[in-house]
Amino acid sequence: MSFTLRKFISRNARSAFTKEVFTSRAYASANQKFSQIAKPLYDYPDDAQQKKDQVVQSLIRTILTSTNHEAGSPAAEKLRFLFATIQNDQDAIYAIQQASRVAGILRFEGHRDVGYNRQKPVVRVAVTGSGGAIGYSLIPRIASGEMLGPDQPVILHLIDLPGDSMKVVKGLSYELEDCAFPLLKGIKVSSDINEGLTDVDYAIFVGSKPRSKGMERADLLKENGKIFVDTGKALAKNAKKNVLSLVVGNPANTNCLVLAANAKGLDPSQFTALTRLDQDRAIAQVANYTGKPISDIKNLNIWGNHSPTMFPDLANATIGGQPALDLIKDAKWIENEFIPRVGKRGAEIIAARGKSSAASAADAAIKHMRDWVLGTGKDAVSMAVHSDGSYGVAKGLYSSFPVVCLGNGKYEIVKNLKVDTAAKKKIQASVDELASEQKQVANLLK
Ligand SMILES: NC(=O)c1ccc[n+]([C@@H]2O[C@H](COP(=O)([O-])OP(=O)(O)OC[C@H]3O[C@@H](n4cnc5c(N)ncnc54)[C@H](O)[C@@H]3O)[C@@H](O)[C@H]2O)c1
Repeated sequence: MSFTLRKFISRNARSAFTKEVFTSRAYASANQKFSQIAKPLYDYPDDAQQKKDQVVQSLIRTILTSTNHEAGSPAAEKLRFLFATIQNDQDAIYAIQQASRVAGILRFEGHRDVGYNRQKPVVRVAVTGSGGAIGYSLIPRIASGEMLGPDQPVILHLIDLPGDSMKVVKGLSYELEDCAFPLLKGIKVSSDINEGLTDVDYAIFVGSKPRSKGMERADLLKENGKIFVDTGKALAKNAKKNVLSLVVGNPANTNCLVLAANAKGLDPSQFTALTRLDQDRAIAQVANYTGKPISDIKNLNIWGNHSPTMFPDLANATIGGQPALDLIKDAKWIENEFIPRVGKRGAEIIAARGKSSAASAADAAIKHMRDWVLGTGKDAVSMAVHSDGSYGVAKGLYSSFPVVCLGNGKYEIVKNLKVDTAAKKKIQASVDELASEQKQVANLLK
């Protein structure tokens, strides 16, 4: 550990943290708790990135056991993100402060912070299709800090088509102002994709043409594909070089493929498409069926395309730490109800509410970006990412895999999972669909 951090822990922080309770009887216990929390940071490696995860885990364990906070609680989750994104002394100091807050060492009134106060530099987040239904659910949650964390100020770039859509977006921008979000440092409304994507750090591509009556999937692919050609070029030209992009607009995987192919100079790993909604739909089905809490269900991941061919994989999932298939032994339920229902849940929602899912899609987009930027820990989440050929998925396709996110946009496809012959066949069917979509947009990929 560096000298600055050591000094902070041993002198300044100790008095800053205990200042508020100095006169109270809680001083001794607060002091003891603080020592417990800060101790593992003495082992914090300055440059050994690979050891970081271990140290982070040990820190979280220490804090949780010393404070009676349960793993998975909102406080524990917040700490997990904070510790996973430590990059320098200042980040570490901030993380210790927050840990101390959780431990009840500091008393806070409202949002008032005590001691060292880190201001992260502001980031710019673009959302296309801002005037639509998903935009309306998604954008206030970005502004509130739910996506990038409670310490990350944002400037929103709200993009939509010219004309009536601009009026809707203007209206949304007024509402955002009226929410008085402390983290929202600015709003830019634009119908020009080049202007809208200028200097952005994160881009969420929701805007795309809906499928109209009688329109074939092939027509939809081409129509939307064209949008993503210009968008990709605008992104490469105007956004930050390390911009991270999430595609939500359907057909999401293939739109993502077109986007990445046209964003020359950016890395394919900077692009992802949304399959988190499918994952969450699968988790909800399993929770209903087993009666187990949602938070017990882990590593239930989606393979393939965001379409009814996707494969929700129970073989690698766990429920309360046990293999999910030890609890779910009904193969008929899996085959005839679970898999088809997850695949066709989008259609079920349209049939019920007359419109496609919006609140749940927005929620999934928030979680996808949060995990991608802030890290997941050891449990895998579903993201459609650039295939490196893992599990026989053709290289270059954007297919959903179980991934772990390491923070700051880095992710890894989880290796060595059990994939039996039946699962392989289902994954292949979905990947074949992606390959066929790739062929249909071949002229847009040059
Ligand atoms: N991947 C997923 O899990 C998932 C889930 C639900 C919905 N979706 C998809 O998300 C998309 C948006 O859904 P919605 O309910 O918000 O639709 P919506 O029709 O309510 O809104 C779409 C918005 O996009 C705008 N738009 C269209 N083309 C644009 C372009 N070229 N540039 C900028 N804006 C553009 C429209 O003007 C409109 O405001 C649809 O394609 C839908 O199928 C994906």
